[in-house]
Amino acid sequence: MRFSSRTAWDLAETRLARGLRERRAAGLEVLDLTASNPTRCGFAYDEAGILAALGDRASLTYDPDPRGMRFAREAVCRYYAERSAQVEPEQVFLTTGTSEGYGWLFRLMCDAGEEVLIAAPSYPLFDFLAQIEDVRLVPYPLVYDHGWQIDFDGLREQITARTKAIAVVHPNNPTGHYTKDAERRELERICADHGLALIVDEVFLDFCMSSQAVDPPTLSREKTSRDQDGAPGSFAGGEHPCLTFVLSGISKIAALPQMKAAWIVAFGPQEEQHVALARLEVVADTFLSMNAPIQCALPAWLAGCSSIQKQIRARTQTNLRNLDQILLRFPAITRLEVEAGWYAVLRVPALGNDEDLAVRLLEERGVYVHPGSFFGFAGEGWLVVSLLTPEEAFRRGVERICEDCGGAEQREQD
Ligand SMILES: Cc1ncc(COP(=O)(O)O)c(C=O)c1O
Repeated sequence: MRFSSRTAWDLAETRLARGLRERRAAGLEVLDLTASNPTRCGFAYDEAGILAALGDRASLTYDPDPRGMRFAREAVCRYYAERSAQVEPEQVFLTTGTSEGYGWLFRLMCDAGEEVLIAAPSYPLFDFLAQIEDVRLVPYPLVYDHGWQIDFDGLREQITARTKAIAVVHPNNPTGHYTKDAERRELERICADHGLALIVDEVFLDFCMSSQAVDPPTLSREKTSRDQDGAPGSFAGGEHPCLTFVLSGISKIAALPQMKAAWIVAFGPQEEQHVALARLEVVADTFLSMNAPIQCALPAWLAGCSSIQKQIRARTQTNLRNLDQILLRFPAITRLEVEAGWYAVLRVPALGNDEDLAVRLLEERGVYVHPGSFFGFAGEGWLVVSLLTPEEAFRRGVERICEDCGGAEQREQD
């Protein structure tokens, strides 16, 4: 069999994955600072409520709608209404994951070899999603200067006749920064000028870190418009001068990644939006991938997500505070600003390759952490730590990272 070239990946186990497997097989301690699965992080879920929502008798009859059951799409509209954005059920497509949503959008817009611009650093799964659809992902740079911002000159240089869309993750993973209002307007201007679509991934939208982290005193840039809780707003709100697709789902919003429910919401100039919706409907109808019990449960899960969100925000804020407390003793290590999301980025003295550092931390210190290269950070000296990690493991893991690469410890009496 000659398999497709699009699946000719290097499937060899990475050194880090091998180290982790061997360490776990040997029964050795692993402080996992890569945690991204909330169902394994010790949060108190409303188990009875989650399961009860699955028992809806409406799921016993099947009346498929390519966009998803209307009452489930109406629940998505309510989610946006609570965030000051008006969405009609006709604009919504339910998918089994944001990942599937990307796949459908790539199929909708791109022929083989066409390009989508994506920020670097960013979430690594995008590479695979694009390759599977024969789409080429082209990175545009983010720069860090008292917070992350889009390098628009760098972005414009990447636009070619093959470019079909610009993707933004708002707030971004793992940098944890929101796209500011002025950046949104510039992105929309570029998309409208070049006939491109804007894809906006908002899976972390609700995980704003704190008012202080969002408006640090050093930031004088224009602030992002806020929803009614004061958190930066969704791209679902406001005007849509270019074709815009907003993606989100319950894997992060309700911390239910196992339930596989997400959505695409389409906005934009009427004619283009109309064609996009009609074509997407054929893509969706071809798969009909949503199952009925999940759609029936979606309204209850969305309505009940504030309790788990509160717990996650409390966890991420506590971990960030503890991280800062530890870093006071290790001035050689700094953390970058975090506005939102589940991760923090550490700048450590770069004595070699980041992957070597991550392997050493695992083998010698029992700390499993992602090197910056995993997310496409340029250069060395970056580690990404998950703020979702249970507090005690997080504190111990960070201590060990600092002892390993933080240089001389600065004690309080120093
Ligand atoms: C930025 C971003 N988008 C999308 C996803 C995937 O979400 P889903 O579970 O809805 O496919 C993730 C998962 O971590 C993510 O970090």
